[in-house]
Amino acid sequence: MTARKPIILCVDDEQPNLKLLENILVPRGFEVVTAANGQEALEKIKTQTVDLVLLDVMMPVMGGFEVCKKIKDDQKNRNIPVIMITALTTKKNRIKGIEAGAEEFLSKPFDQAEVLARITMLLKVKELNDKLICAYDNITSLTNFGEDIINNFNPLEFDLMSQVDSIVGRILRQKSDLFEKPETVLVRILNNRNNYEWFRYEFVFDKLERTPFQIVQELKLPEAVDSRLRFYTEAMMDGPLFQPFVEKLRAYLISVKNMVCYMSNNLSVFALNYGREVSAYDCAVLNSIVIQTLFLRSLSSQVKETEEAFEYTVQALARASELNDEDTGKHIVRVGFYCALLAKKLNMPDSFVNAVRVQALLHDVGKIHTPAEILRKPGALTPQEWKVMQQHTIHGARIIGDHARMKIGSSIAISHHERWDGSGYPDSLKGEQIPVEGRIMNIADQYDALRNVRAYKLGFDHKTTFQTITEGDGRTMPQHFDPQVLNAFKKLASNFEEVYERLKV
Ligand SMILES: [Fe+2]
Ligand SMILES: [Fe+2]
Repeated sequence: MTARKPIILCVDDEQPNLKLLENILVPRGFEVVTAANGQEALEKIKTQTVDLVLLDVMMPVMGGFEVCKKIKDDQKNRNIPVIMITALTTKKNRIKGIEAGAEEFLSKPFDQAEVLARITMLLKVKELNDKLICAYDNITSLTNFGEDIINNFNPLEFDLMSQVDSIVGRILRQKSDLFEKPETVLVRILNNRNNYEWFRYEFVFDKLERTPFQIVQELKLPEAVDSRLRFYTEAMMDGPLFQPFVEKLRAYLISVKNMVCYMSNNLSVFALNYGREVSAYDCAVLNSIVIQTLFLRSLSSQVKETEEAFEYTVQALARASELNDEDTGKHIVRVGFYCALLAKKLNMPDSFVNAVRVQALLHDVGKIHTPAEILRKPGALTPQEWKVMQQHTIHGARIIGDHARMKIGSSIAISHHERWDGSGYPDSLKGEQIPVEGRIMNIADQYDALRNVRAYKLGFDHKTTFQTITEGDGRTMPQHFDPQVLNAFKKLASNFEEVYERLKV
């Protein structure tokens, strides 16, 4: 049983002939659309679904051969079989018809049995052809889907809901897709609170619409013979086993004619009402898309977990490095945020912004090697002590090492005390010789150090700190900083204050 009646377009300028064809076809389960001339026939094909055309050869306005050629020249309609009806049985006319692309010929007066036999045979061929085209489209769609994933998959930003939107957009029937695809898709997702959320998807005026709805009682489907192949034809859905399921959905104003579904605890997808009979093949396509999505979700959560463990380890190492230092509260966490703010303002890529936020925490890790009496000394350091103190940059880079993943952290450790004018340490680098992450860290570190109470000084308020950095106080001078980073700092001053206040303790 097919989901809809095959639609036959009968084209003839003689009304009695059209009537006769209608009388043959309608009682046999076909839907008949008529046109009185070629022009009208082409208009109808453009605006509605047609499965087969019965075309008279001799017509005013536009002859049958020309109409047939126009149908076959159109990429969208070339698979619609055309039967030419003709009283002309000459070989010449048949050749003309074949050249125009006609599949079959019928002679007047009609023989009912012959009309039906030819139509049935051509519709079968068309059905197989449509399946082939659909299979090709599905393979192309799956390939594109895979390609999109390879090109755009970002495990740290993976969002299941937008991924589901994207796959449903591929599965669902748009206005122009006719009947090969389902008209409605229902999705059931297990949310973070361990509740099921339901969504109904449909294309409304070419726009994908997702509507949440609540299913009070869980939907129960009859046991499937093979749980991987859940496809339910119209004949099955009509049966008594499915009545409770169909009734329940009807209560939500959702009608089900046929259905293909993928069911799992985390994510279930129900594709409803294909305009043709559904098969195991539709199941394979749906399963493939949903399983890929679940795989991405699992991959994303594993990557996120690893990333969290990585950040945790970096923080633990950073905290260990504060062992001998005076208590600076959440200084190391705050500088990470300042650095990320500056990097973003400087239009650095997201990967850099994130890396600088995490790895900036290790800027003073080398202080593990600096004696506590130097770190905690209330007065000025002697030249010898100052030399030891400066070594923390070199020790830091050595501790972090040269793993590619820690490149920014290592670079910050060695260069965060370099100054734009060349007056910094340990290498007295100047201008752009200093890596950008070092230039960013320098200003972030300065801001926070000025605000904090230290053994040798009181803490400044935001306004005084801002003035010290932007105008200088003899000790800290604007020429120490990269002008571009300084400019970004000026624009972000209120954000710096907000981070400091939020993470003060
Ligand atoms: Fe430092
Ligand atoms: Fe610091």
